[in-house]
Amino acid sequence: MIIAIDGPAGAGKSTVGKRTARKLGFLYIDTGAMYRALTLKAIEQGISVNDEPAIIRMAENTVIDLINKEDGSLAVMLDSRDVSKEIRQPRITQLVSDIAKIKEVRRIMVCLQRKLGKQKNSVLDGRDIGTVVFPDADRKFYVDADFKERVRRRFEELKETGQAITFEEVEADLHNRDTIDSTRAVAPLKRADDAIYLDTTKMSIDEVIEAILTRIKNG
Ligand code: DC
Repeated sequence: MIIAIDGPAGAGKSTVGKRTARKLGFLYIDTGAMYRALTLKAIEQGISVNDEPAIIRMAENTVIDLINKEDGSLAVMLDSRDVSKEIRQPRITQLVSDIAKIKEVRRIMVCLQRKLGKQKNSVLDGRDIGTVVFPDADRKFYVDADFKERVRRRFEELKETGQAITFEEVEADLHNRDTIDSTRAVAPLKRADDAIYLDTTKMSIDEVIEAILTRIKNG
């Protein structure tokens, strides 16, 4: 069974996806983490995100894996190195949308996402899961929230991990990513026609998970 969870940055997809997968005993696949891992590698190798041929060559020669750990966390492996923490840094967040808009990069990532998702029952979260990666997913959700609320959630999350960033910086970043992610030519963020829309602005994480589990059970 494939469960697709799409939506904009800061809507709570990863927390919801991870915990929903755990409750169901499914694999959790954070597709945003894959684009983030590629972004980290580009920065480390000094490759500009605007140098598309070099980015594509790099992506072709990169091994990304996601490991669901016993404690419920997800290890993001970049060429066998655990980069789970590094990929959440603002320097990655600022550039990731530019990497994710490259057509050939998406082709490589989508291929990997399909391979991972077909291994066993999975919950995938991203921007194009229900529209492109698994258009035949068994259940599709589009998780949304008001812009200010998404900024607040992302800001709290970053504060908790000890990152020095202001509310205004988070606001500018989300605005920038919303624009790039939803206007890019290839697989833009878009609600699939058959996705269940959840406005989570006034919902707690537990309520969102409950709403998703209920809809999965009830078909
Ligand atoms: O969900 P996230 O913030 O970790 O995603 C990071 C970026 O990756 C996001 O700005 C857009 C991109 N992304 C994408 O284009 N397609 C996906 N399936 C997942 C993420």
